[in-house]
Amino acid sequence: MRAAVITLAGVAPAHAEHPDPAPAPGRTVVRVEAAPIAPLDLLAASGTSYFGVPATPYVPGVQGVGRTPDGTPVWFSTDAGMRPGDGSLAELCSVADGDLVPLPDGVTPVQAAALGLSAVAAWVILTDSARLAAGERVLVLGAGGIVGQVAVQAARVLGASRVVGAARSAAARARADDDEPAALAARLRDALGGEADVVVDPLCGVPGTAGALALAPGGRLVNLGSEAGPTLAVDSASIRARHAAVLGYTNNALSPAQRRTALEAVLGHAAAGRIIVGHHECPLDDVTAAWERQAARSGTRQVVRIAAGR
Ligand SMILES: NC(=O)c1ccc[n+]([C@@H]2O[C@H](COP(=O)([O-])OP(=O)(O)OC[C@H]3O[C@@H](n4cnc5c(N)ncnc54)[C@H](OP(=O)(O)O)[C@@H]3O)[C@@H](O)[C@H]2O)c1
Repeated sequence: MRAAVITLAGVAPAHAEHPDPAPAPGRTVVRVEAAPIAPLDLLAASGTSYFGVPATPYVPGVQGVGRTPDGTPVWFSTDAGMRPGDGSLAELCSVADGDLVPLPDGVTPVQAAALGLSAVAAWVILTDSARLAAGERVLVLGAGGIVGQVAVQAARVLGASRVVGAARSAAARARADDDEPAALAARLRDALGGEADVVVDPLCGVPGTAGALALAPGGRLVNLGSEAGPTLAVDSASIRARHAAVLGYTNNALSPAQRRTALEAVLGHAAAGRIIVGHHECPLDDVTAAWERQAARSGTRQVVRIAAGR
């Protein structure tokens, strides 16, 4: 089969021939239609993450969309790069049966692939981790990313009274090193028209710290990534005076059933046009360049189109 193949950890995959997956009990061979390149794919392939150095050669791709042998359209996940085995960036992918989720009508393979695990995280953070209530104010950091785009739209769907998405501009990037968390928190409170009941934080670092300082009494900040830095620096008095909560989130703590429920909810809203994310579509033979665009954090989710679907 044709596939994206990584032969050395830390080096982008190349378009190449790779052996077809063998049939195995409890697994389904999916004919892949589209697969995104997400931050988790790069982290796992880097060889420098807590997953260790992946065995090579392997096909990356922790999620994808395709069809089972009976033609059912599905979204699926894999452990590629985190455990031995091949992932979704190939014409065929062997998937554990528990990791298959049927796609609802009305969502294209590319749309579903662009949403995927980042959308699951945004949805579960708002509904389960932060327990967003109707009428609350929500601040979404990193609002230009997939998590951020979904969180902004999902917060609206879930009845937030005010949703502010914060995204860095070119000018902000240039002055990012000088940004003071307290000054940024003041600007965020201005935009919110008050304080945030819920903060969705894929960034950590200075913006995450500012988000924590902008929390309302009883507010909840949920961190799921460290795009802007490894540390939140919040003083005890700010948190305890507001009896606020700073929580961590990982999709890895979800059961397959929880992940499926969240994905079905998001894809249902996507089918109805309420949750839409930007993405850049490219063919499998362009995978090296697409991988490098994602590595450069070019801002648009790369979705590799592998076979013609619906
Ligand atoms: N814990 C989990 O289970 C889980 C699940 C999904 C995602 N995540 C993590 O959440 C983060 C976001 O995921 P995603 O899918 O939304 O990724 P993405 O689409 O690549 O978005 C990344 C976002 O981070 C912003 N960013 C990067 N560096 C920044 C900086 N120094 N200051 C401010 N903003 C910065 C980018 O801004 P620009 O648009 O300006 O480049 C972009 O909006 C990633 O770290 C990912 O690993 C975690």
